[in-house]
Amino acid sequence: MSKAWSGRFNKATDSLTDDFNSSIHFDARLYRQDIEGSIAHVKMLGKQNILEDSEVNLIVKGLEEILQEIESGKIAFDIRMEDIHMNIEALLIERIGSVGKKLHTGRSRNDQVATDMRLYLKEMCNELIGEISDLGLVLLKLSKKHTNTIMPGYTHLQRAQPITLAHHLTAYTEMLKRDVTRFRQVYKMSDASPLGAGALATTTYPLDRYYTANLLGFSSICQNSLDAVSDRDFCIDFLEAAAVYMMHLSRFSEEIIIWCSSEFNFITLDDAYATGSSIMPQKKNPDIAELVRGKTGRVYGHLMGLLTTMKGLPLAYNKDMQEDKEPVFDTVDTLMMVTRTFKQMVNTMTVNQDTMLEAAKGGFTNATDAADWLVKKGVPFRDAHAIIGKLVFYALEQEKNLDDLSLEEYQSIDPVFDKTIYEAIDISNCVNARNIIGGPAKESVVRAIAINENFFNSEASPIQKKTQD
Ligand code: ARG
Repeated sequence: MSKAWSGRFNKATDSLTDDFNSSIHFDARLYRQDIEGSIAHVKMLGKQNILEDSEVNLIVKGLEEILQEIESGKIAFDIRMEDIHMNIEALLIERIGSVGKKLHTGRSRNDQVATDMRLYLKEMCNELIGEISDLGLVLLKLSKKHTNTIMPGYTHLQRAQPITLAHHLTAYTEMLKRDVTRFRQVYKMSDASPLGAGALATTTYPLDRYYTANLLGFSSICQNSLDAVSDRDFCIDFLEAAAVYMMHLSRFSEEIIIWCSSEFNFITLDDAYATGSSIMPQKKNPDIAELVRGKTGRVYGHLMGLLTTMKGLPLAYNKDMQEDKEPVFDTVDTLMMVTRTFKQMVNTMTVNQDTMLEAAKGGFTNATDAADWLVKKGVPFRDAHAIIGKLVFYALEQEKNLDDLSLEEYQSIDPVFDKTIYEAIDISNCVNARNIIGGPAKESVVRAIAINENFFNSEASPIQKKTQD
């Protein structure tokens, strides 16, 4: 079949041009959104008496059949038809004849592709929100088990103060809540219909833009036709939300990699989510966490790539914009796979509670509490800090923890010490004394877990399509 635009040309396109110009090998993924968009458009043409009802019915039936055949794998797309839009139109004309040529009345591929991408991203945001919520719930389930599992909290990757594993994990569920909120925002940014914008300046047919928007479940329409066809902000917003989300998982992955090293030994990964070495028989590597960290770079690259593609484009549509698809699709695939695998890895890992506790006890993580004990005795905090600094210095020399020093040793540093110091620096007391909102005390973390569970269970449920006739 000749190209839809061949009338003005004297020669066929070179096969290099076909290869270079076509997008069917990646935009085929938009077939369903493309057909949904076409059905809505053609129904609207019928309602506005631009097409006869009989024509509308034939076209809708033809498109529905094509949809089924694509889904059952019966259709091979043709690279010479350039993209998914032209392929489906060509298939329709082949199937129902001349009436199929009326489908594109009052429409351009420019508003068509923008519509497809918005429909696609709305669906993907819902799916990703579901996946991220599942991951959040897995982390919360793990948190519930570990509200008493003491570990060192770090700053500068140096042991700082004792916390619990649940407190550490719920730091990540806070990040995931923001990620869900970001993807919701991307959904909203994508939720306006460009259909009716035409190539750039709408059309002379009396289209009802609200009618198609409503059929497709868009809650509003794009207000300026030039903007409607040349806006890819929603794709960039998506990549930005994806980049931040990957940054969170990458930080978590980095911790998992450190935690499963022999030096830390805080966790043991399940064999099903680790890999071996081709030469060193003893190795068990955290490849999944490393790949999540590694793929973060790839997603950042997509964000920078599309920002750069868009930065010099005059209004309205330019073919450069076909380059929006591969980064978006690859990001969707990456996030889906990363989220599902990461979730399983975390869900199956073993927590080595004793090692975590030993580490918390070993690093003077209760030194702040010792200083706070002095403050309660009336010592100004700066003086208390200096006294405990001396005490730590002494303990280091003796190769002891603060808990192991005798009362005489304490009193040799400062006579104000009495035996109640031991209770104040008991590691689990240190944790549970921090019972203010956001803190590591069991009570406070249990509250946070409940709030977060509620968020992931309810608020993160998919936004439903508004209407469908
Ligand atoms: N495949 C094209 C894209 O993804 C569709 C729009 C083509 N429009 C055009 N005027 N050539 O951008």
